[in-house]
This record gives sequence, structure tokens and C-alpha cells, in this order.
Amino acid sequence: MFNLDEIYTGNCLELIKDMPDNYVDCCFTSPPYNRERDDTYEHYSDTLKDYYTMLVEITDQMLRVSKGYVIVNVQCNYYNKVDFYRYLGNFADRINGTVIWHRTNPQPNGNYDKEMGTRSVINSFEYFICLKDGKSFYSYGKDIFNNVIQSTVNPFHVDGHKAIMHRDVCTTMLSKFTKNGDIILDPFFGTGTTGVCAKALDRHYIGFEIVPEYVETAKKRIYCELSGIDENKVIFGKSTKTSKSLF
Ligand SMILES: C[S@@+](CC[C@H](N)C(=O)[O-])C[C@H]1O[C@@H](n2cnc3c(N)ncnc32)[C@H](O)[C@@H]1O
Repeated sequence: MFNLDEIYTGNCLELIKDMPDNYVDCCFTSPPYNRERDDTYEHYSDTLKDYYTMLVEITDQMLRVSKGYVIVNVQCNYYNKVDFYRYLGNFADRINGTVIWHRTNPQPNGNYDKEMGTRSVINSFEYFICLKDGKSFYSYGKDIFNNVIQSTVNPFHVDGHKAIMHRDVCTTMLSKFTKNGDIILDPFFGTGTTGVCAKALDRHYIGFEIVPEYVETAKKRIYCELSGIDENKVIFGKSTKTSKSLF
């Protein structure tokens, strides 16, 4: 059995097998993007040989354990796009909808080919693929929810982990696709943004994370959230700009 509001250290592909069917209300996660570069994580190598199979296996399991949506955030890039688009095709009949996260200050890309007069197209969005039964796509609440959300990239960095989800984005997604008291599983918990936002919104989380150092960071961040401590100033001692949310 899995306790609510607890992080389990280990490989999510193994841990999730012990979770009973329909155990959680929603899965919300950001798997590694497989950028084939080792500059994102200090303690994890973002270079899986078979990214497609990993995504398919974990999504099959998430669909098994979740009563509600399985929401998968992926930044499609040059390295993962073949695997990612194959993955979408594999789950075509389970996808209820997509939310696009438009990052308003993406990394500028200066690749200009003088001879051709062409420049690389800047990648300024990420997908949230929302899977369940492939039927209609609903959000909670009376407000109309537009499926394009905007924010700056996350200004919040922790030593050794540069792929932390923007808190405003996570909050928007969890508040639209879960309700008070819901249990949210994040099998790629990282530094715990899902847990931080779940607690702020009166939800429960269960986290899986393979790197013990990130588990410790996540625990500290959640402790700060529950104690009303500013994580930027107190835990990491770093001054980080607070981004202005645009939605
Ligand atoms: C994109 S990050 C998640 C970031 C998280 N949403 C946050 O805001 O901090 C992906 C995480 O998955 C973890 N990870 C990679 N493979 C894993 C596996 N098989 N089981 C559990 N965690 C894994 C990595 O260590 C990394 O922290």
C-alpha cells in the first residue's frame, strides 16, 4: 500500500506495479525529455536508449492506476521527436485532449545559415497530453478553460536539477483537472513541484523519484510549503526572480 503525501525513492516503472488499479484520482507528470545531453541533471543521465518503450510502459501503468486523467508534460525536441510522435500514435484512442504551454521567453536560438538564409525555428511550447478514454475533454469549474496557457520559463532553479516545472503552470493544471481532496500520483517527482502545488491546493500527492538527492530537495520544498516558508530564500539561499504569471 502507498501512503498519501509520501515520496518513494526508486524506479517508477517498478514501484507503480505494486499500486492497485484505480488507486489515485489523477496522474500528473513530466518525464525526462531525453535531450541526449547531460546538462540538465547532475544526478540523472537524460540519455535513455529506448525512450519510446519507457513512455509507453509508464503510461499504460498510469492509465491502470488512475480513475481520472493521466497528464503527461513533454517538451518535444530534435532528439525525442520520433519517439514522442510514435508514443502519441500508440495512445491515439486514449487521448482526450491537449493543453499547450506557451513559454513566453524561450531560449533564443541563433542558428542562422547564411547560404540558405534560414534560421532555426524557436521551440517555445510544451505539450500536456491528457489521456483517459479518448472521449470528451473536461475541466473542473464554471470558468471557461482555454487550452493554451502562458508563462515565462521557470526562474526557479535548484542545484543539480534544471528541469523544474513552473509552479504557476502546475497550479493551473492541477486546479483545472483535479478537485479538493484528490490523490495525485507523479511518478517522475523530481524536486516535487507536483507535491508543493497539491498541498497548496488541498490535494494529496504520491511521488516516485529515482534520485535520492532530488527526493531530499522535494521533501524540503514541501515542508516549506506546509510551514509557510519562502523556499527561494530560506532553503536554497538563492535569490530567484519571481516570474509574472500571464494567465
Ligand atoms: C523533468 S524531471 C521532473 C521535474 C519535476 N516535475 C519538478 O518540477 O521538479 C524528471 C525526473 O524524473 C526522474 N526520473 C527519471 N527516470 C526515472 C525513473 N525510472 N523512475 C523515477 N524517476 C525517474 C529524474 O531523476 C528527474 O528528476
